[in-house]
Amino acid sequence: MAQTFETVGVVGLGTMGAGIAEVFARSGRRVIGVEADDAALERGRGHLERSTGRAVAKGKLTEDAQREILGRVTLTTSRADLADADLVIEAIPEIMEFKRVLFADLDRVCKPSAVLATNTSSLSVTAIAAGTSRPGRVIGMHFFNPAPVMKLVEVIHTVVTDDGLADDIAALARSLGKTPITAGDRAGFVVNRLLLGYLNHACALLEAGVAGRDDIDAAMKLGVGLPMGPFTLLDLIGLDTSYEVCEVLFRETRDRRHAPAPVLRELVTAGLLGRKTGRGFYSYGEAAPATPEARQAASVSTVGIVGGGPEAATLATAVERAGFKPVVAESADLTPVGDADVVLALSDRPVVELAVRLPHPERLAGLHLVGDEVAEVASTVLTSPETTAAVHDLVQILDRTPVMCGDRAEFVVNALLYAYLNDAVRMLESGYASAGDIDTGMRLGCGYPAGPLEMLDAIGLEAVRDGLRALYAEYREPAFAPVPLLDQLVTAGVRSIREYAG
Ligand code: 3HC
Repeated sequence: MAQTFETVGVVGLGTMGAGIAEVFARSGRRVIGVEADDAALERGRGHLERSTGRAVAKGKLTEDAQREILGRVTLTTSRADLADADLVIEAIPEIMEFKRVLFADLDRVCKPSAVLATNTSSLSVTAIAAGTSRPGRVIGMHFFNPAPVMKLVEVIHTVVTDDGLADDIAALARSLGKTPITAGDRAGFVVNRLLLGYLNHACALLEAGVAGRDDIDAAMKLGVGLPMGPFTLLDLIGLDTSYEVCEVLFRETRDRRHAPAPVLRELVTAGLLGRKTGRGFYSYGEAAPATPEARQAASVSTVGIVGGGPEAATLATAVERAGFKPVVAESADLTPVGDADVVLALSDRPVVELAVRLPHPERLAGLHLVGDEVAEVASTVLTSPETTAAVHDLVQILDRTPVMCGDRAEFVVNALLYAYLNDAVRMLESGYASAGDIDTGMRLGCGYPAGPLEMLDAIGLEAVRDGLRALYAEYREPAFAPVPLLDQLVTAGVRSIREYAG
């Protein structure tokens, strides 16, 4: 019969540990929360009170129910209090040495039947298990931040996990109202392997000056519909944790895209760890700067548009409605737009080659419409600051959020998105996780509107494959080359990877 785990210990009551303790207490279980010292214990108590208090304030929880939940949690600084626990979950910092020492201690303190679980984001569960006398009863149980909200739990088994234990932990996750996915022990598991590659890539674009923090965040939130942009999310996860996960990924993959971006190292060293310290990529607790009002693109009267098809026609109509005179060059002949005040080249590929064919190359910028809300504006090395400013304003007048970026293949959105989709296909191809688990992982672990393979199907396999080829040609990054499975599906005329993979 499946174990029910009535008494649960949680070691480490930072953001994640406190969230996990809350989830178990809400399910009616008795929880023993352990911290290293009184000060840390008080911080943990604060997390628990604030998180449940937020639910009370929103009318989602009565004060009585809050008292009951908090009443189920015993807080202590003594690990000996875990002697009766059926399950202990560790949520201490991502440092293997700390975990090994802790698990040796838990192994000594806890009853032999107890399961010892780690909430590690990426470290080897196998290595943690091997340091105990009960490796068969050590398992990964990985929650997502904020733990009370995110529905996913990754259950990570090793080659020595007892038969049936992963199923019992998956059943436990379901009893908490979560959806489990079960996977073997690889760096980053399913979600962080895909997520941190993308977040670190966003840092690389920032450092390379392709676009700024706010532009990249807006691009991914408004352009792709993700709940948060990459820098907001990095701050939520914690830059120290993000750094450590990237390190672990890099050690396993030797893929330099996983090597933590220098800006992460710098911020972590400076103690700017994200929301939990009040400052990371953003500062918290300060009033947000006012969004500047859209100004009239003052000096512009004629807007040239380079591009064909319905997109160019729709843009021309919108430009006209906004009070400007559109002129369109649909073919290779750019003469019609030669004298326009600004020239918008509809593209997501570098546009400088078009600029050099114009009499006024400084008047051209690339424009990539993303969804209904965003337009990427790519300035070339020849684009004048006046043109960049005018196109920025024009995009606002057209009721879109401008994402200002450099003239690089796939600009911002597709550069980040396609590389991430390629990684998901790579994971599928490797046999590590099923298409269903990959999509469920990203939807429920990160709140994405769709999983990567679903997104790939929606965009079209060929469009993504071609975008990846352009990315590879630009950056010569091996991991941007389309993975063979994607290439072959396109060649074979297969239109849906989800259908192919079942
Ligand atoms: N604790 C408890 N509850 C919280 C919370 C917190 N820290 N933050 C938000 N909530 C609750 C709110 O109370 C609200 O509940 P309700 O719907 O019952 O009223 C709900 O979440 C939505 O919150 P808000 O309306 O205030 O804010 P948003 O709509 O912006 O949602 C969010 C906030 C749920 C955090 C959303 O932005 C999101 O899904 N972001 C993505 C988070 C993500 O990707 N997490 C995974 C990170 S990776 C990870 O953790 C793995 C690790 O190993 C690195």
